[in-house]
Amino acid sequence: MLDNVSPLPGLAASAALGWGVIGFGWVARDYALPGLRQAGGHLVAVADPNAAARERATRLGARAYADASTLLTDPAVQAVYVATPNHLHRAAVEAAAAAGKAVLCEKPMAATLADAEALARTVRRAGIRYGTAFDQRHHPAHEAMRAAIAGGAIGTVTAVRIAYACWVDAGWTHDNWRADPARAGGGALMDLAPHGLDLVEYLLGEPLTEIAALTQRRAQAYAVDDGAMLIGRTESGVLAQLHVAYNCPEGLPRRQLEVLGTTGQLLAERTMGQTPGGTVHLIDGRLGLRCPVPVPDANASPFARQMAAFAAWLRDEGAADAFSLERDLHTMRLLARAYAAAEHPACR
Ligand SMILES: NC(=O)c1ccc[n+]([C@@H]2O[C@H](COP(=O)([O-])OP(=O)(O)OC[C@H]3O[C@@H](n4cnc5c(N)ncnc54)[C@H](O)[C@@H]3O)[C@@H](O)[C@H]2O)c1
Repeated sequence: MLDNVSPLPGLAASAALGWGVIGFGWVARDYALPGLRQAGGHLVAVADPNAAARERATRLGARAYADASTLLTDPAVQAVYVATPNHLHRAAVEAAAAAGKAVLCEKPMAATLADAEALARTVRRAGIRYGTAFDQRHHPAHEAMRAAIAGGAIGTVTAVRIAYACWVDAGWTHDNWRADPARAGGGALMDLAPHGLDLVEYLLGEPLTEIAALTQRRAQAYAVDDGAMLIGRTESGVLAQLHVAYNCPEGLPRRQLEVLGTTGQLLAERTMGQTPGGTVHLIDGRLGLRCPVPVPDANASPFARQMAAFAAWLRDEGAADAFSLERDLHTMRLLARAYAAAEHPACR
């Protein structure tokens, strides 16, 4: 799926990409900022209504605004990273598109499918380059797994099993928008499943065409789902199973990715998440022997690699399908179908 839009005008191969950040909270501050700097970019300006967030940006030498309008008129801002709560993604992306900026927007694309579809129409009309920030596509371990699968290391792939969980209680942050259906658009399924759905398609190189799910509100005192089980099937018939949860304590194994095939299995532990590291093993299907899979560039940050890939895409370098509006919209449709299948009114 190639998105046929023009590259960023005037972006020289050697120039550092100037970034504007809309929503300078946890993920932007702790992961995207170090990532864009490691990728050779620089932070020009930040827009955030929170005074403490703006102060942090000013201390880092960036300009800081309470809203995005001035940031978007700054010619030094060539690309915009959107990391607001989910329900504000659409407005931020649409404003950036109207200003002709390239946009990398955090997952999920929007809080609702209707907003994601409207966002996509605006992006197409504006002809800007847009990507959803699926950093786990850029994790070195996942890249090594994709290469091993494509090289036939596990034979015919039969199934993918993912566990991706954490503990999010009602008081997790001072204003926990993740627990608010209107701002988050859903719970653990909306927040955590996009990564797994996108990873399944990245690892196998084919789309999921069928999806079903069940959700729960089991352990946390809020109105969104705190756990979900999803099952899906890809175009060629690989089965996928995702367990996502906000109700899993820290001491338990919470980040595991398995790809099973007719001659072996790939097992990735602690690779899913924002940081590099974790392990990948290949288990031999005949003897059950477990061997480590070498991971090139194993300590590279997935966020830095994502920012570098985005900058390369803007320069018309690198993989043409590293980012795709249509693929991201398809992931939003899978999420909406999963919620519809769950038929759990309290979880919508
Ligand atoms: N890729 C990942 O691994 C990953 C990890 C965490 C979060 N995320 C995504 O990133 C986004 C932000 O999550 P977070 O955990 O950083 O949340 P957060 O609450 O820590 O940060 C959100 C920031 O947005 C700001 N904000 C609120 N309204 C705004 C507005 N109108 N304009 C500009 N800024 C505004 C808030 O003041 C806050 O600083 C979410 O969409 C989330 O799903 C992705």
